[in-house]
Amino acid sequence: MDDPLSSLSSQLMQATMVRYYHRLINDFPTLHMKDLTQQESGQGRLIRLDGRWVTNFGSDSFLGLDKHPAVLDALDRGVRKWGSHNGCSRAFSSVEANEMAEERLASWLKAPSALIYPSVTLTNLGALPALLTRHDALVVDQYAHNCIQQGAKIAKAQGIQTAIFSHNDPDSLELTLAKFRPYRHAIIAIDGVYSMSGMLPPLVEFQRIARENRAVLYVDDAHGTGVLGERGRGTVLDVLGNYDNTLVVGSLSKGLSCFGGFIACNPEIKFALKVRSGPMVFGGPVPPPYLEAICTVMDIMESDEGLILLSTLHENMGLFNRLAHGAGLSPKGGIGAIASIPIGDETATLTAGKLLFERGFYVQSVIFPAVPHHQGILRVQINAIHTHQEIRQLVEALADVVAEVGTTGEEVPAANLEPNGVTSI
Ligand SMILES: Cc1ncc(COP(=O)(O)O)c(C=O)c1O
Repeated sequence: MDDPLSSLSSQLMQATMVRYYHRLINDFPTLHMKDLTQQESGQGRLIRLDGRWVTNFGSDSFLGLDKHPAVLDALDRGVRKWGSHNGCSRAFSSVEANEMAEERLASWLKAPSALIYPSVTLTNLGALPALLTRHDALVVDQYAHNCIQQGAKIAKAQGIQTAIFSHNDPDSLELTLAKFRPYRHAIIAIDGVYSMSGMLPPLVEFQRIARENRAVLYVDDAHGTGVLGERGRGTVLDVLGNYDNTLVVGSLSKGLSCFGGFIACNPEIKFALKVRSGPMVFGGPVPPPYLEAICTVMDIMESDEGLILLSTLHENMGLFNRLAHGAGLSPKGGIGAIASIPIGDETATLTAGKLLFERGFYVQSVIFPAVPHHQGILRVQINAIHTHQEIRQLVEALADVVAEVGTTGEEVPAANLEPNGVTSI
């Protein structure tokens, strides 16, 4: 008879997602491109991936600050000043760089205060269950990022009423909230930029519904931070003009090229989360060198150089959109730094990614579970450090490749589906 660990391992091999990935590897051994190794990082966005030098159109480091000399110096300085890690939870103490990074972040965002977590995932897993109690309700957009869905599951386990509503659909949101009334408070959790499609939510409409229903808007703007709005302050301030009745989660690891996530909130909520949210109390913080780097990134975002980087990013995105539309590619999104080209069929989507790779471009070919079955996409991430020539060449290659593989679907939901394909909480 098997020992328990062997038995557990064999059982896991039968789990839906593991079987799905095994099938992917078996059916598309040379196409799936889901387990690549980057060996080197070269000039600009050149990378050596699985032995081939390609231009990387799959990086979330949208402004290219990952290569900025001042950011690298700050990391260096931070290591010498603090060592590699602080080594204790913030429930005991915080390094000064942590307090400073939160102050700088809040000041840049024009928000009352900010609390930094080690990732956006931990922010959502930690904050959503900690913000509410069993008298409250949490409603989540169907395609909100997986970590919001997971945060909602933890909230549900704590007795908070939870439900999903149809993607970007105000009527569905209103009906879902109505189902739960009366509640003491409610949170409406959505993405600020849907990471697979690059599409934005109807924030003004959602805010109106939130206010009419005694609910707070909770926006995970991971892909809007450092990208959208004045000086890259994000989707919420750009569209709503203020943070009233809104909690904003953002990323330090994408547009800002450091490490971590944050929630922008009032000081009362910051205090409550510091003492109530699991990852904050029981987990470790962002390593101090990255906190030093965040302060340097804030300097850049507030400088003329920051403005130039942002306008270069948007100019690059504009160029991509114009060329892609001109080539008949019908890109979706394309407002921030992400555009997606609908392909549809899984084989066609993976083949397209592989053909692009062979032509010298890395673009993520995205299939289930990141998007629903048979709605595969090519996800193009535009960076400020891409050259116009690289963008032109990419669009030429995309047009050829899409013509070769064909497309079967126009729908591009911004899905971050549960691995078992179930979107209910
Ligand atoms: C909306 C959204 N939230 C959260 C995450 C995860 O962020 P992190 O890697 O910091 O956990 C992502 C990643 O792409 C995202 O798009």
